[in-house]
Amino acid sequence: MARRKKIYEGKAKILYEGPEPGTLVQYFKDDATAFNAEKRDVIDGKGVLNNRLSEFFMTGLANIGVPTHFLKRLNMREQLIRAVEIIPLEVIVRNFAAGSISKRLGMEEGTPMPRPIVEFSYKDDALGDPLVPEEYIIAFGWASQQDLDDIVSLALRVNDYMSGVMFGAGIKLVDFKIEIGRHYDGDFHRLILADEISPDSCRLWDIETGRKLDKDVFRRDLGDLADAYTEVARRLGVMPTNVTHAPTKPTLIN
Ligand code: TMP
Ligand code: ASP
Repeated sequence: MARRKKIYEGKAKILYEGPEPGTLVQYFKDDATAFNAEKRDVIDGKGVLNNRLSEFFMTGLANIGVPTHFLKRLNMREQLIRAVEIIPLEVIVRNFAAGSISKRLGMEEGTPMPRPIVEFSYKDDALGDPLVPEEYIIAFGWASQQDLDDIVSLALRVNDYMSGVMFGAGIKLVDFKIEIGRHYDGDFHRLILADEISPDSCRLWDIETGRKLDKDVFRRDLGDLADAYTEVARRLGVMPTNVTHAPTKPTLIN
């Protein structure tokens, strides 16, 4: 079989040409990066976990009517997705203060937001993904006012869904980042959820203990990242088989 054509390689994923026009294959790497790739490592099994977790969240979101790029999982590390034109924004939703908002406003981590806050960063590692006001986004033509209204309402639906699912697993959804793509269908295009939803792009705290179950474990050297992601997958009932990291204890079969 001819080698697939690589379309794009990012920090955590690779996109290959898909089997049909309008599709791509999204491959999840084990690479972990933080602080705009200043800190990097390879975490065995991370790609497998994120492939499954992103499938789980996107499928659930599709079930409540949120349009996503996810079509189907192909194997342990790959999923078939709709090709989209990515809007160059990190759309961030915050329920509690943490990370950059805590630093910027001197707010203690964990402080509840008066309501979910949606903010936008311009996707550019070299610039450190700077926070941008809507005025920049519209003036520079990255998205229209109508697009932004649609993006905010989509982001809030994702937040409601993800907060509920996480709460059911004893996890607090502190914040998360999504990316939105334009999906072209003939002369029309619509905005759909793209990229991934995984513990790489969320802050997840255990409700009881406050234990961090997300990429902050790696950013802040708090322990084993794959253990944390495996815990999230286990609580959600998304346990991939054959993950190098999965426990191999004998189990009792009833
Ligand atoms: P922040 O506190 O660094 O602004 O990040 C807020 C949330 O968004 C956090 O869960 C991490 C996520 N995020 C990404 O996944 N990628 C990014 O490039 C940025 C800026 C944030
Ligand atoms: N853009 C940020 C980075 O690459 C996101 C993160 O920390 O995960 O560091």
